[in-house]
This record gives sequence, C-alpha cells and structure tokens, in this order.
Amino acid sequence: MALLKLENLHVALEDGTEIVKGVDLEVDTNEVHAIMGPNGSGKSTLAYALMGHPAYEITEGRLLFDGDDVTELGADERAQRGLFLAFQYPHAIPGVTVTSFLRSAINAVRKARAGGTDDPIAIPEFRKELLAQMDRLKVSRELASRYLNDGFSGGEKKRVEILQMAMLKPRIAVLDETDSGLDIDALRVVASGVNELVGPEMGALVITHYQRILNYVKPDHVHVFVDGRIVESGGAELAEKLEADGYDPFIPAKVEA
Ligand SMILES: Nc1ncnc2c1ncn2[C@@H]1O[C@H](COP(=O)(O)OP(=O)(O)OP(=O)(O)O)[C@@H](O)[C@H]1O
Ligand SMILES: [Mg+2]
Repeated sequence: MALLKLENLHVALEDGTEIVKGVDLEVDTNEVHAIMGPNGSGKSTLAYALMGHPAYEITEGRLLFDGDDVTELGADERAQRGLFLAFQYPHAIPGVTVTSFLRSAINAVRKARAGGTDDPIAIPEFRKELLAQMDRLKVSRELASRYLNDGFSGGEKKRVEILQMAMLKPRIAVLDETDSGLDIDALRVVASGVNELVGPEMGALVITHYQRILNYVKPDHVHVFVDGRIVESGGAELAEKLEADGYDPFIPAKVEA
C-alpha cells in the first residue's frame, strides 16, 4: 500500500461549505504527483486538510499514512510521522528566528520518533547540516538569524520552505504553489531541492496551476482537479495537454456550451 492514501476525502470549511468533494489518491515514496487545477478549485483546501489545519474539516472519507488512519490526528502528530506542507502563503513568525524554528521542528520530530523522550539534535551537527543545506539551496546566510518569513521577499519565503523540507526530511512533502512568484533561478533551486529529495525516502505531491515547475520536476502522475474532485489522471503528458488547452475541456459547463 502507498505511504499516503486518501480515500473518498471530503473537506468542508468551518461554515459547512463543502470544497473537496471526494478525492481518492495514493502517493508513495519515489513518486512525484502533480495536482493541477484552476483557481478556487480547492487545491489549497485539500493541502490544508492533509496537514490537519483545524479550519478545514474532513467530513467524509479517511486519510491513511503508512497504513494508519490519521484522519483525526492533529497537525503536529502528522508532521511527526513525516508529512510536510510547504504553504502557498507562508506566515511570518515574528520573534522566532529561522534557525530556532528549524531546530525546534527537528527536535519535535526526533522526540516523537524516540517515543516521547527528548532527543535533541547536537548543536554542532545541526549547524553543520543547516549551513550545508543553505548553501545547497542558495539561501542567504543572513536569513538564518532573521525572524521566520518576517519581511522576506516572496522568493525568500519559498526557498526557506524548501530549506525546512530539506532539514526535516519528511516522507511525503506537499508543495502548494511553491513555484508561484519565483524567478527562474529560484525556481531551479526549488525544483532541484525537490528532485534531490524525492527517492526511496520521500514522495511529493506538487500542487500548481502552471506547467512551469513541471519542466524541472518531472511528475510521474498528473491529476486534473476541478471543483473539488480529480476529474482526470495521467502521466506527464497530461500537464503538457493542460498547458496547451487549458482547463476548459475538463469543466463540464464549458464542454456543454
Ligand atoms: N478559510 C476560508 N474561508 C472562506 N472561504 C475559503 C477558505 N478557504 C478556502 N475558501 C474557499 O474555498 C474555495 C477553494 O479555495 P482554495 O484556496 O482551496 O482554492 P485553490 O484551488 O487553492 O485556488 P488557487 O489556485 O487560487 O490557489 C475558494 O472559493 C475559497 O474562497
Ligand atoms: Mg491555492
């Protein structure tokens, strides 16, 4: 069975409006899945629900991670098991530096893996790894001592999201529009970061509405997402078809018209 499995997942907003209307999807390590769909189709809602954001309620269906039902688990427990979400709009955390944020996140995961006893990473080991990853992802060293996302440019925020991913080494990474707002160099850095990490230890779910990032991160599976549902799945060629024809062929009202 795949590491991450969505079974008939329905997600509603706090006011009860259903946004995600029954999604079945399996994502395994060594795989890149792309979800592509128009604005407002519910892609970010799906991503938030996968991470356990309290404002997005799973009203039907279930979410399995490594064979366990994690539908009711909180965001922290999902993260500890190895789910990671890079946000479309990363939040600033004034007062918490990038370095201290990363160290606490790593230590939380280590603690969970050690069965609840503290097992903090040694500072020299942490620093060495952080500097190596920052160099690799071309994140300016100056950012490490600044407050997380506070006054960061759009591209800096996205690079720091990828830095988090590289440091946390999740088993499934969900990237929500990590490509938007990136210049071409940053896009390459982000894409190569994803490419290097996807393998026997990690799979990725890349959410985007442009084919652009998919020129650099080759998806094994592409899913077209319209009005809260996956309406078509295929290989990398499906992304090219979308780029050429847009989403209209997949929107029922437009096909009829
Ligand atoms: N917290 C919220 N409060 C109110 N409405 C919301 C909330 N979150 C999502 N929605 C609504 O749910 C719908 C789906 O939004 P979502 O952000 O999931 O779309 P998306 O596919 O990610 O779009 P985009 O491509 O623009 O990022 C939209 O109509 C949006 O306004
Ligand atoms: Mg979105």
